[in-house]
Amino acid sequence: MSNPNLQGDKNQLTSADKEFENGIRPREINDFAGQSQVIENLVIFIKAAKIRGEALDHVLFHGPPGLGKTTLSRIVANELGVNIKETSGPVIEKPGDLAGLLTNLEPNDVLFIDEIHRLSTVVEEYLYSAMEDYKIDIMIDSGPNARSIQINLNPFTLIGATTRSGLLSAPLLSRFAIKSRLEYYTAETLRKIILRAAHILNVEITNEAAAEISRRSRGTPRIANGLLRRVRDFAQVLNDGQIDIGITQHALKALNVDEHGLDHMDNRILSAIIDKFKGGPVGITTIATSVGEEAGTLEEVYEPFLIQEGFIKRTPRGREATPKAYEHLGKAMPGSYGPSLFNV
Ligand SMILES: Nc1ncnc2c1ncn2[C@@H]1O[C@H](COP(=O)(O)OP(=O)(O)OP(=O)(O)O)[C@@H](O)[C@H]1O
Ligand SMILES: [Mg+2]
Repeated sequence: MSNPNLQGDKNQLTSADKEFENGIRPREINDFAGQSQVIENLVIFIKAAKIRGEALDHVLFHGPPGLGKTTLSRIVANELGVNIKETSGPVIEKPGDLAGLLTNLEPNDVLFIDEIHRLSTVVEEYLYSAMEDYKIDIMIDSGPNARSIQINLNPFTLIGATTRSGLLSAPLLSRFAIKSRLEYYTAETLRKIILRAAHILNVEITNEAAAEISRRSRGTPRIANGLLRRVRDFAQVLNDGQIDIGITQHALKALNVDEHGLDHMDNRILSAIIDKFKGGPVGITTIATSVGEEAGTLEEVYEPFLIQEGFIKRTPRGREATPKAYEHLGKAMPGSYGPSLFNV
């Protein structure tokens, strides 16, 4: 897919996309659909922290882009009834930047660090004592008078979010008492998310149309909402604003949206395995070089969906394309006589 609005990756979003996202982002825990195991546990931990009047333990949300890590972090702060300060790994350049953020937190506030895998090593190490004992060392004076003093921070909750938990160091990981992995959503949950968003946007949509969009959304709310927004354009111009199954199918076809919701990179990965490596098995690093992406990103961001949906298999000798992948790309499996023979 070349249209950035239909990507799951937030780095592809324009400011208009972000404004759109914020408008329909659930603010209350009850509006957050799916991820039931994660939510049930969080509700308990939040209640317990509130009863004790303490800061919630540090939380790490990890999982592929667009599944609700930022949304959930804000909801947690909201449920705790505290402020949330948001920053991101690459923005915190030096320990002093982090100290500035930490010393401005009120008791039990949330500090949200997005893309926490991108913290520099010095900043990360500086974070350890803050997370563990709510204490940091600050350098005062310079030159021969330079010395560091320890200061106490207000108790706080660090919420980290990452698509690449594999890049986090063991010491950092161990300081998050609560680690939650967000999973891809079922089409049924996405359908509800679409209906809710349509309601907020004040557009009429049939159940059937919402179900169709949900199936093509790669298990990802960000993509589902992005597709809804584009389909709405078609409906407004061609169908009096009504989103029914006819206009939805028309729009999805015009937008070139893949039948299974696979994106451009997914399809490149499948093509590479099939065309360049005879369907596999082939190692992840070899696939990564061939599609020009990092092996870790393939492993944590792309592959889980392709495996979940049965397009590739992980074997001890590497990744293999399944018959479903061949069928999806319209290719015959080696050694088979092509699907047509079986259809007679
Ligand atoms: N469970 C949910 N219910 C309803 N809407 C959701 C849910 N999860 C995510 N969304 C919607 O999807 C959009 C993307 O979610 P969010 O920004 O929280 O994803 P993310 O995991 O932080 O992504 P990234 O890794 O790119 O930062 C939001 O605008 C939000 O409206
Ligand atoms: Mg986010």
